[in-house]
Amino acid sequence: MLESKLYIEGGRSLQGEISVSGAKNSSLPILAAALMHGGTSVIHNCPTLSDVYSALRILSSLGCKCKREGKTVTVDAKNVTGCEISEALMREMRSSIVFLGAILSRTHRCRLSFPGGCELGPRPIDIHLHALKKLGVKIIEDHGVLDCSLTGRPQAADITLPLPSVGATENIMLLAATGDGTTVIRNAAKEPEICDLASFLTSCGAQVTGAGSTTVCIKGTESLHPSAHTVMPDRIVAATYMGAAAITGGELMINHVTPSDMYSTMAVFEQMGCGVYPYSDRIFITAKKPLKAVKTIRTTFYPGFPTDCQPIVMAALCKAKGTSMIVENIFENRFRAADELNRLGADIKAEGKVAVIEGVKALSGASVMAHDLRAGAALVLGGLAAEGTTTISNIAYIDRGYESIERELSACGALIKRM
Ligand code: EPZ
Repeated sequence: MLESKLYIEGGRSLQGEISVSGAKNSSLPILAAALMHGGTSVIHNCPTLSDVYSALRILSSLGCKCKREGKTVTVDAKNVTGCEISEALMREMRSSIVFLGAILSRTHRCRLSFPGGCELGPRPIDIHLHALKKLGVKIIEDHGVLDCSLTGRPQAADITLPLPSVGATENIMLLAATGDGTTVIRNAAKEPEICDLASFLTSCGAQVTGAGSTTVCIKGTESLHPSAHTVMPDRIVAATYMGAAAITGGELMINHVTPSDMYSTMAVFEQMGCGVYPYSDRIFITAKKPLKAVKTIRTTFYPGFPTDCQPIVMAALCKAKGTSMIVENIFENRFRAADELNRLGADIKAEGKVAVIEGVKALSGASVMAHDLRAGAALVLGGLAAEGTTTISNIAYIDRGYESIERELSACGALIKRM
């Protein structure tokens, strides 16, 4: 079947309101946590994304019964029998590694293949494995397969991470939630998604304190119980829509967001000359003035400027007056949007960790290709601003993180359709 593409007639400024879905990067570890007890979990505001369907397929392959009704997913984990994630499922989504801690919590056994590298570069899991060993997990690595086992409950441990890895922090929280005693994670990731997972685990009977700070404590329990949870808003999707308003010189009210998760992102859009007005659960952004270049933007761990917003801001800066520089400190290969944006007439030089963006007066439509999720989103922004028609292929990457991006943007005046 011919792979579908996005077609955009650019050059129109966006006006109107747009709603943000639940956070992909919070729903994934929370769905993993749902298999840790034998009851039925109810997850509200769960986004309809291909990565979430992958997570539901993993749960089903382990014996869970999953049901989706609109934005609510129920997971009946009574009959979890499996403990293996197939290579195909691992390749489908490398963040499946976060199921390791959850499966071990429930079955004390887990076999999965090494998650392949991805478009952003090698995605090592050494920090995950070192931490799980401290919780008592025995790990045999054999021909790319990890065979992990526990004799009895995970033991409590005091773990200091070499860097605040989001996935590693989540894996430790998931395993320690059934641990015997209190596990301490030092130099933990502070992302809002960690707090969302902590509140879900606490509602299931674990006692998690300190989430969002450098030190997270998890007092495990043998009897986790089912609970219901509403997934937090997706701060990266919200930033993407801010970028769409910025690059098209429009104005948008972005609903269902948590502005307090987004200070560093909002600050960058203000530096670009946008008017950014946060309210309790929405952000109004206006870009009626020409965008200004931002001298230096550095991606870093939360609460600093997020690497996931880097391609989005790179796109907006293509139309800013002056020279901007971005330093990407988290992933080795995360400037994949640059070459494709240059095909739209941008002037970006990316080398190693640094990308220099010379603002141009206009972008012009072309055929471009998404190479990863957020680079694909950056191309949508480029296409919205480019004069003429832009065609984007490989949009399966975009569907991993955005619920029908074309429907949301069309409602604000964009001429964009999927064919
Ligand atoms: C999460 O990935 C997100 N994914 C990523 O979003 C996000 O870019 C990243 O955090 C950083 O914020 C999910 O939550 C599903 P890390 P994760 O472990 O957990 C190195 C998107 O677009 N590292 O915090 O994999 C790693 O190579 C995705 O939605 C090790 O060296 O990120 C990276 O350089 C893309 N060893 C740095 O740490 C390890 O064992 C941060 O990675 C683990 C990580």
